[in-house]
Amino acid sequence: MTMLPLADRHGRTATDLRVSLTDRCNLRCSYCMPAEGLDWLPHHEALTDEEVVRLISIGVERLGITEVRFTGGEPLLRRGLSGIIAATKALEPVPEVSLTTNALGLERTAVALAAAGLDRVNVSLDTIRAEDFATITRRDRLDDVIRGIEAATAAGLDPVKVNAVLMPGVNDDQAPELLGWCLERGLHLRFIEQMPLDAQHAWERSAMITADQIVASLQTRFTLNPSTKSRGSAPAEEFLVDDGPLTVGVIASVTRPFCGDCDRVRLTADGQIVNCLFAREESDLRTPMRAGATDDELAGLWLAAVLGKLPGHGIDDPSFLQPDRPMSAIGG
Ligand code: 5AD
Ligand code: SF4
Repeated sequence: MTMLPLADRHGRTATDLRVSLTDRCNLRCSYCMPAEGLDWLPHHEALTDEEVVRLISIGVERLGITEVRFTGGEPLLRRGLSGIIAATKALEPVPEVSLTTNALGLERTAVALAAAGLDRVNVSLDTIRAEDFATITRRDRLDDVIRGIEAATAAGLDPVKVNAVLMPGVNDDQAPELLGWCLERGLHLRFIEQMPLDAQHAWERSAMITADQIVASLQTRFTLNPSTKSRGSAPAEEFLVDDGPLTVGVIASVTRPFCGDCDRVRLTADGQIVNCLFAREESDLRTPMRAGATDDELAGLWLAAVLGKLPGHGIDDPSFLQPDRPMSAIGG
C-alpha cells in the first residue's frame, strides 16, 4: 500500500497518534475536571473496539503513523484495552505503543498489558504526599498509584515516566522532593506547565508555575545541566541531574511553545480527529465510518483534517479562545 504522510501546510508531518479511549476518569485532578465530573459521552457515541482498531490501522498502514499512545480520561477504564493494544502491535509496520495513565488499577493489569505488547507508560503523579494528592485529585488513592508504578516497572515497561503538574500553593514547593523520589526508583520525571485545558476554564496565566520557576526550584537541591541529546519533536527540555546519567524533563508548553516541531495528531473516544490540543475544529470520522465509508475515504478525511492544522496554539494571542473540549475529552 502506498503511504501518504499526514502533512500540514507548515512543514510538519504527524507520525504520533494519541488515541483517547474514554473521557471518563476515576480521579478529579483540579486542573482538569470539576469535583462532580463531567457529562460523559453517551455509549453509542463512543467508538467500539473494532472501530478504534480500524482507524488506528488506517493511520499506521496508510498514513505513516509510527507511534500510538493511548490516553483518556483514564485509558485503564476501557475494558478492551489489552485487546486494542494487541491489535495495534499486530499492524505492519509495527508501531511503538505507549499509555498515559493515572496508574489506578495498573497494579492488576501491568503484566497483561506488557504481554499484549505495550512498550511504555507515562504515569501522572504530582506529589508523593498523601494529603496533597487527595487535595489535587480529590481522591485518597496515592498508595494505589505507587503500587501501580511499581507493577509497571516490575512488568518490564521501560521507561516508566512520571508527568507532574505544579499547582500554586499546593505542590509548587515539592519539585525537588518529587525528583528525588523518582531518581531513587529509576523513573523519568517530567514537569508540564499547566495549560488552559481545564473543563472549568479556571486557568490563569499569572497563576501558572513556569518552566523557569520549576528549573530554579529544582536547582535548590540538584545541579541541572542541559542535556546535549537533540530534542527533535520531543516537547521536554531535558536536563542532566547532578552530572547524569539520570535526567529530568521540563515541558514549557506555554512559555516556550514547541508547535513548530509538533508531530502529533489526536483521535477522540467518539471518533473525531483533532489536529492540535487547542484546535477549535474537529473532523468527524465516526459518522462517515458508520455510514459505510471505505478505508480510502476515511484516510482522505484524515489527511484533510491534518492539512488544516494551524501553526501554533496562540495562547498568547489576545484572541485566544480555549477549545470547547477539555483535555480529558481530547486525550493528553
Ligand atoms: N495542563 C497540563 N497538563 C495537564 N494534564 C492534564 N490536564 C493538564 C493541563 N491543563 C496532564 C496530566 C497527565 C497528562 C495527560 O497531562 O497530569 O499527566
Ligand atoms: Fe483523570 Fe488525568 Fe484528568 Fe487527573 S488529569 S482527572 S487523572 S484525566
